[in-house]
Amino acid sequence: MGPGWRYECALVTGASAGLGEEFARQLAPHCARMVLVARREDRLHALEAALREAHPHLEVGSIPVDLAGEAGRRELITRLHEAGWHPTLLVNNAGMGDYGEFATSDWEKTQGMISLNITALTHLTHAFLPEMISGGEGGIINVSSLAGQLPIPDIGVYAATKAYVTSFSEALRIELREHGIPVVAVCPGPVRTEFEEVAARNRARSDVAQRDWFLVDKGEVVAEALRGLRAGRALVFPGWKVALVATAISIMPAVLIRLAMSGRPRRVDRD
Ligand SMILES: NC(=O)c1ccc[n+]([C@@H]2O[C@H](COP(=O)([O-])OP(=O)(O)OC[C@H]3O[C@@H](n4cnc5c(N)ncnc54)[C@H](OP(=O)(O)O)[C@@H]3O)[C@@H](O)[C@H]2O)c1
Repeated sequence: MGPGWRYECALVTGASAGLGEEFARQLAPHCARMVLVARREDRLHALEAALREAHPHLEVGSIPVDLAGEAGRRELITRLHEAGWHPTLLVNNAGMGDYGEFATSDWEKTQGMISLNITALTHLTHAFLPEMISGGEGGIINVSSLAGQLPIPDIGVYAATKAYVTSFSEALRIELREHGIPVVAVCPGPVRTEFEEVAARNRARSDVAQRDWFLVDKGEVVAEALRGLRAGRALVFPGWKVALVATAISIMPAVLIRLAMSGRPRRVDRD
């Protein structure tokens, strides 16, 4: 096992791609057990095999479920309970966005996004927290977004779900301080993952190239998140440019934020 810090059992949601997969890879040397969760079973099994080969000490398992649904979440909780696996590090990472104006949004996609970004994160935290408290060991990483700091047109529901994640994490962190359980909200700016592809309504169009200067590598995002958890930080804005923008937003009067958001180029993505 890697030097310094360790977790008995880490659960990573959204481990089949992007930041979640990176969390699993960086955490593996520091964990005795790990549970990988997402819908794509083949991807989870491939990651599971790679982790097992690189870290023979690691007990790793996959539970493929749809976290946007109550049934999938209950299946995950029950299977872990029956196996006697109690997550001591919960990485609530699974999340998705939707680009385009609200009026023309697809309700199924919007509802799924709210269920995944808000309900699943809250439900899993609620399910695994009692064991963390009674076991005297735990930690929670909630993946929020820089978008949670702003009301952003054409990705308004997503930004609002992340405002929830940041606010909830801050409050929970204070509640859990007496139990010695750190909670950190990680608020990345743009990171190259499958996020854009999932969020886009018109898959031929992507704005990511226009924001290349602002991109932060997923390895850096995860490393800063893990350092932030260990340091007991409330919020982590990975990458110095993102941190600078976050600081600017935090001191900006609401009227300036409204002006900046009104002048933002509109996304015209339609189905
Ligand atoms: N990339 C960015 O620019 C960026 C910036 C700020 C914040 N974030 C946040 O970072 C987190 C990770 O996103 P990412 O960038 O790594 O995106 P990603 O590459 O699209 O990965 C999303 C992960 O979530 C899983 N997922 C999606 N829907 C799910 C569902 N219904 N049930 C279970 N798992 C589900 C996906 O797996 P399956 O499809 O296999 O289920 C995948 O593993 C999200 O919370 C996102 O909001 C991303």
